[in-house]
Amino acid sequence: MKIFDVPLTWFEKFASKWESDGVKFSVYTFIAILIGGLFELIPPFFLSRTVVPITTVQPFTPLELAGRDIYQKEGCNNCHTQMIRPFKWEVDRFDPQKAYGTDGYSKAGESQFEHPFLWGSKRTGPDLAHESQIQPSADWQTRHLKNPRETSPGSIMPAYPWLFEKDATIDAASIQNHMEGLMVVGVPYTKSDLDSVETSVQGKTQGEALVAYLLRLGKDSAELSKSIK
Ligand code: HEC
Repeated sequence: MKIFDVPLTWFEKFASKWESDGVKFSVYTFIAILIGGLFELIPPFFLSRTVVPITTVQPFTPLELAGRDIYQKEGCNNCHTQMIRPFKWEVDRFDPQKAYGTDGYSKAGESQFEHPFLWGSKRTGPDLAHESQIQPSADWQTRHLKNPRETSPGSIMPAYPWLFEKDATIDAASIQNHMEGLMVVGVPYTKSDLDSVETSVQGKTQGEALVAYLLRLGKDSAELSKSIK
């Protein structure tokens, strides 16, 4: 078509000019990508400011933190996510009691003390972000971890009975170290929190710590929702 002749000829000239000057073209392209990259890269360094803190969300207790370590060590996050996406069907599925009001999806503030976060990306089992509101019974959680088939017939989740054996204890010193490390990245533990580790984890099994952790998931933000309603 005639009307395209002018722009096409112009474009042809433009293209062949740059094709014949490959080095200059590469340098300019590199600079353009560099500038674009910086605009993409720099803002996330300051992103913590955009996370709205949830006042009821507190750091994990030493026992819960020990449970979180077991969760990571056993790779629970390979089968479970901890992030409810903001879709109606997800909220309906993972907030059956409407403990979080009408917007029961995960908020950034719920993970403000999580290093590293355990959002996960694979859901062989259900999401656990608000597990404390879904299965609040420590007895159920214990029986389930010892043998998932007992509470959930046909479950393909592995059993973890050894976590509840007497000698599966928790090393208080390593939990203390862990807390000190978390303090460096901004988790507000205090000196008395560090001193309480010994009494908090003493005589507990790794399984008990894991159950304490599971029963903490989503608890704090549910408290906030209660006070708002
Ligand atoms: C091979 C994948 C797999 C692994 C690994 C796994 N799970 Fe599961 N999990 C499942 C499946 C599937 C279900 C659903 C059936 C059931 O309730 O057992 C489930 C269910 C659960 C539930 C009940 C959730 C609910 O609200 O009904 C909890 C809690 C849970 N898992 C915790 C864990 C913990 C803690 C670990 C690590 C020690 C773990 N899972 C490891 C697959 C897995």
